[in-house]
Amino acid sequence: MQKFASVCRPALFAAALFAVPALAADVSKGDPKAGRALVYTCGGCHGVTGYKNAYPNYHVPRIAGQNFDYLVAALTEYKKGERSHPTMRAQGQSLSDEDIRNVAAYLSSLSASK
Ligand code: HEC
Repeated sequence: MQKFASVCRPALFAAALFAVPALAADVSKGDPKAGRALVYTCGGCHGVTGYKNAYPNYHVPRIAGQNFDYLVAALTEYKKGERSHPTMRAQGQSLSDEDIRNVAAYLSSLSASK
């Protein structure tokens, strides 16, 4: 009996330790306020009001209201050169991984209908 208790207690302690990082997981979702300050340069091409296309002759995808995970994936792909568009590669490379999450948090918080 005594042996069982001494094996069991460390296991419970470990379970409690692993529960803590789950509470702090919000950090990985990015900070929309910090992201807002970073998207000024994007508006020149992606449009300003509602981030619609600023140039009718030039296809620029709408990014406002886009899904958070999609934006993080797209920007990371440009950053790593897995997507080849030269301008967006430069944009991606100017952002840190944290910047990308912040930008994605802000853009995904916008309404897609404007
Ligand atoms: C010089 C013009 C220009 C600027 C500045 C610019 N973009 Fe882009 N962006 C584009 C074009 C053009 C594409 C489409 C590229 C392609 O076909 O791969 C694009 C694509 C994207 C995509 C992929 C969208 C999709 O549906 O796949 C995202 C996300 C994006 N831009 C975010 C940003 C962010 C965030 C910024 C600011 C940090 C920014 N862009 C600045 C021109 C620009």
